[in-house]
Amino acid sequence: MALLDILNYPDPRLFTVAKPVQQVDGRIQQLVSDMAETMYAAPGIGLAATQVNVHEQVITIDISDQRNQLLVLINPRIIAKDGSQVYEEGCLSVPGIFEEVTRAQHIVVEALDVQGKKFTMEAEGLLAVCIQHEMDHLLGKVFVQYLSPLKQNRIRTKLVKRQRELA
Ligand code: NI
Repeated sequence: MALLDILNYPDPRLFTVAKPVQQVDGRIQQLVSDMAETMYAAPGIGLAATQVNVHEQVITIDISDQRNQLLVLINPRIIAKDGSQVYEEGCLSVPGIFEEVTRAQHIVVEALDVQGKKFTMEAEGLLAVCIQHEMDHLLGKVFVQYLSPLKQNRIRTKLVKRQRELA
């Protein structure tokens, strides 16, 4: 297992569109294990492979209080959605920024698990938010892109300045 480096917005690599996983093999299982370790260590409730500069459709999520209910979504697809909810989101790639985003309240997702087996699940509330947020990463989209251009600029400036200070 290994901790992976998380890309920070506005790193252009975050805007890469991830490709579907061709085969869920040992390499992908290692990636899942490293992503889970990285997500738990951060700590965060979700991580997309895009954020660790791997551009394949892999997501790890754990919204449980005990941090013992790892959800792995490979090649996820939303096959149904309804309703809407507003949630104040954050992101490991956009540290310290929390903003409200509107997303579907209820979704049905089809994906492969870590064994490469297809499954279907329903999610609502925070879990639905989290899945939609991580699936956006796979499309090269970061949650701040839902905000006004003015707010996006302000966030970009703030993060670039902070990264310069840390460098
Ligand atoms: Ni994120």
